[in-house]
Amino acid sequence: MKHALVTGASGLVGSEAVVYFDRLGWKVHGVDNNMRRSFFGADGDTTPNLQRLQRTCARYEHHDLDIRRRDDLTDLVKRLRPGIVIHCAAQPSHDLARDRVFDDFEINALATLNLLEACRHLCRDTPFVFMSTNKVYGDAPNEIPVVEQATRWEYARPEDWHGVTEDCRIDRTLHSLFGASKAAADLLVQEYGRYFDMPTVCFRAGCITGANHAAAELHGFLAYLARCFRENRPYRIFGYKGKQVRDNIHAYDLCAAFAAFAEAPQPARVYNIGGGRGNSISVLEAIERFGELFDRRIQVDYVDDARRGDHICYISDLRAFERDYPGWRLEVSLERIFSAFAS
Ligand SMILES: NC(=O)c1ccc[n+]([C@@H]2O[C@H](COP(=O)([O-])OP(=O)(O)OC[C@H]3O[C@@H](n4cnc5c(N)ncnc54)[C@H](O)[C@@H]3O)[C@@H](O)[C@H]2O)c1
Repeated sequence: MKHALVTGASGLVGSEAVVYFDRLGWKVHGVDNNMRRSFFGADGDTTPNLQRLQRTCARYEHHDLDIRRRDDLTDLVKRLRPGIVIHCAAQPSHDLARDRVFDDFEINALATLNLLEACRHLCRDTPFVFMSTNKVYGDAPNEIPVVEQATRWEYARPEDWHGVTEDCRIDRTLHSLFGASKAAADLLVQEYGRYFDMPTVCFRAGCITGANHAAAELHGFLAYLARCFRENRPYRIFGYKGKQVRDNIHAYDLCAAFAAFAEAPQPARVYNIGGGRGNSISVLEAIERFGELFDRRIQVDYVDDARRGDHICYISDLRAFERDYPGWRLEVSLERIFSAFAS
C-alpha cells in the first residue's frame, strides 16, 4: 500500500488532502499538533477536524508531532518512506507573524528545511508538494493598475485580465514577516528541486476555502465571514473601502492539483493556484451574497486602515498549471462554495 505523509493534517488543506488521498486508496499519515489553537484561540481549534478524519478515514494514522522537532520528523519519514509528501503545516497569518516572530520563521521556513532534508536522504524521488502563498510576491501585485468600480477594484489593463502570473517579482516588495518566512521556504523547495533534482512543487495560493476551516478573524476570509453570519458576530473590514478582491479556491480543487502533480512530477515547479477570475469576489460582494443566503444582515464595521501589504485585487492566473496539467480543471464554483457555507 502507498503511504502519504501530510503535514498540517488537521488544518483546512491538510484535512482535505487526507480525505482525498484516502479515497484514492492511500494510507495517509498526518502530522499536526493543533498549533492553530495556540495561534488563534478557541476559533482555531482543529480537534473537530482530527476527530472527523479518525471517524471517516479508516486507514488514517495521526502523529501529534511538532514539525520543528527535526529528529522526530526525520524518524517518521524514515519509517514511512512515503510515496508523496504534502506539506501544509504553517503559521498561516501575515498579521500574527509580527507577534510570533520566531514561531513563524521556525515553523514556516526552518521546519520546511527539516522536511526537505529528510526527504533528500530518505525518499528523494518522492513528489514533494509545498503549500506556498501569494504573499511571496509581497505587495508587488498592488503595482498592477486598478480602477474603482461600484463594488470592487478591477484590473485596468486588458493584459491583466487573467490575473497575476508566476513572473511577478518576489523581492523589493513588502511581504510581512509571514510572507518572508514563506518565501524562504518557497525558495528552499525550489532549490531542492533544482539543485538535487527532486520532484518539488510550490503552489502559490490565493484564498483557500472550505467548510472545514477553523476560521478566525486573522485567517480564513470566507469561512470567517460565514461564521459571522451564522453566529451573528460583527465583521470588520480593513481598508480599501471593502472593495478588495480575492480569488477563492476550494481545498478539494487544490488536492486535485496535488494529485495531478504526483502523477507527472517534475523538479522545481512553481504555480500560482487559486479560484481564478471565475471565483473572484470582493469583501463587499461577499457580504452581500451571504446576506442573501442567510437572509439576514450583520453589523459591519469599517476600519479605515488596510492590513499592511494587503493586496488590493488579487486574482491567480491559472494558465501555467492548466497548460502543464491539462487534466486538471477547477470544479467547485464560487456559488457552490457559498451555498455550502450557508447550508
Ligand atoms: N487558507 C488560505 O487561504 C491559504 C492561502 C495561501 C496559502 N496557504 C497555505 O496553505 C497551507 C495550509 O493552510 P491552511 O489554511 O490549511 O492552514 P491551517 O492553519 O488550517 O492548517 C495548518 C495546520 O498546521 C498545523 N501546524 C502549525 N504549526 C505546526 C507545527 N509546528 N507542527 C505540526 N503542525 C503544525 C496547525 O495546527 C494547522 O492544523 C499553509 O502553508 C498556508 O500558508 C493558505
